[in-house]
Amino acid sequence: MEYSELIRRRYSCRAYLPKPIEDEKLIKVLEAARLAPTASNRQPFQLIVIHTQGRQAELAKIYHREWFVQAPLLICAVGMPAEGWVRSDDHRRYLDVDVAIVMDHLILEATNQGLGTCWVAAFNAKAARQLLGLPDDVEPLIFTPLGYPADQPGPKERKPLTALVRYEHW
Ligand SMILES: Cc1cc2nc3c(=O)[nH]c(=O)nc-3n(C[C@H](O)[C@H](O)[C@H](O)COP(=O)(O)O)c2cc1C
Repeated sequence: MEYSELIRRRYSCRAYLPKPIEDEKLIKVLEAARLAPTASNRQPFQLIVIHTQGRQAELAKIYHREWFVQAPLLICAVGMPAEGWVRSDDHRRYLDVDVAIVMDHLILEATNQGLGTCWVAAFNAKAARQLLGLPDDVEPLIFTPLGYPADQPGPKERKPLTALVRYEHW
């Protein structure tokens, strides 16, 4: 799909079909994430692929929305703070930026494959840690369901460019 069409077509899908995802499609989606740039190329992330079938009730404890566990797969992007790049001047951590780029790559390739996704940050981190068996030094940052959409995108509501862009200075 052409890039400008792709970024217009991606939307937050909040209803999924139970239809399984072909292995080749899943690999393409994961491969897109692997190719994402990260600060200093540290790649301080892992992706956890979770099958929802038969586990909907327990996985709903992570994020209590019916659609969250409707798709055949959930993907959780986790960050490893100890491995992420930190700017020496002011000790600012770039882990969240890295993981966001990884997830964006993944989500755009999913769109390219005709799959639905939805960024989910408002999950219960304690439940996620427990259900996924995460060690203390691993941060769950973003989830997305991955499956065939059962809804339609709504209109894109965005601020106009004039409210978002300045030239040369603040
Ligand atoms: C970092 C991030 C976190 C988000 N977390 C949630 C969430 O927890 N639950 C949810 O339903 N949508 C979540 N969203 C989806 C946004 O609400 C959605 O992207 C935004 O309203 C624009 O709509 P669109 O994705 O359909 O273009 C999140 C999006 C981003 C980028």
